[in-house]
Amino acid sequence: MYQWYSEQKPFRWPSFSLFSSLFVIVGVVILTNVVISIKSTPSSTTTSSLPVIDGKWQPLLNLNDDTIRQLFMPRLLDLNQVASKWNNVSEACRHDIRHALTDMFDVSPQNRKAWPFQMFDSWSKMPPSGMFRGTITDYGDYDQCLSIIEPIRSQYCLVDFSMPMPKSQPPPNHNFFHKTLGLLPETFPRRNESTIYEHLEKYSSIFYYTYVEMAICMPIVCNQDDLETILKVKQNNSS
Ligand SMILES: *[C@@H]1O[C@H](CO)[C@@H](O)[C@H](O)[C@H]1NC(C)=O
Ligand SMILES: *[C@@H]1O[C@H](CO)[C@@H](O)[C@H](O)[C@H]1NC(C)=O
Repeated sequence: MYQWYSEQKPFRWPSFSLFSSLFVIVGVVILTNVVISIKSTPSSTTTSSLPVIDGKWQPLLNLNDDTIRQLFMPRLLDLNQVASKWNNVSEACRHDIRHALTDMFDVSPQNRKAWPFQMFDSWSKMPPSGMFRGTITDYGDYDQCLSIIEPIRSQYCLVDFSMPMPKSQPPPNHNFFHKTLGLLPETFPRRNESTIYEHLEKYSSIFYYTYVEMAICMPIVCNQDDLETILKVKQNNSS
């Protein structure tokens, strides 16, 4: 551009070169703006759309401990108490339960570890869905339970609960449709079988034939004694 301008000695040329250089400058400005806008168009869309994509799961990160507990922890026992206070459970077992609870709750929400979720999510739902029409087994998730190898190993256990029944053996011609006597107190105010107690009583004879079978997933260092103590099935077995 400098060389071209230096050639234009005649009077007419400078004005033209001025005009044309002005034109070039305007052109450069326009081009620069176009280039900038071309550059900034994709970058502005990516910067403005990324947080929206990122943020979709934000509510998940904000779930508080209580919600996590209600969603994923065993409902009928307090493993926090077991881990911190139950001296009748081995220290190794309590240590690994504490480890699981720590990795779930004693970290910032973004740092919750996956393995305790996999462990507790492998438990049966208790009581199982459909219990009041006779579904009394729920096998939880065997594969998920045994997929945990780091930082601890886990074990999958089936637990049989027997319901207390009046006689240990029904008579030989007994079947599911026999009503079991002696379950509800004589004084129980009966409501034509509309109450849940009468409903259960009506179908109770199934408990002569089968257990309520549930699955749990626990650290492998928890021995059978530990598990029986934690589930409080020891006293039931011995009585
Ligand atoms: C039970 O059913 C009988 C006959 O259908 C009726 O007379 C009685 O009032 C009912 N009792 C209750 C507690 O609902
Ligand atoms: C174990 O200890 C806990 C807390 O002290 C107690 O509630 C539980 O009944 C005990 N279990 C057995 C089987 O002794």
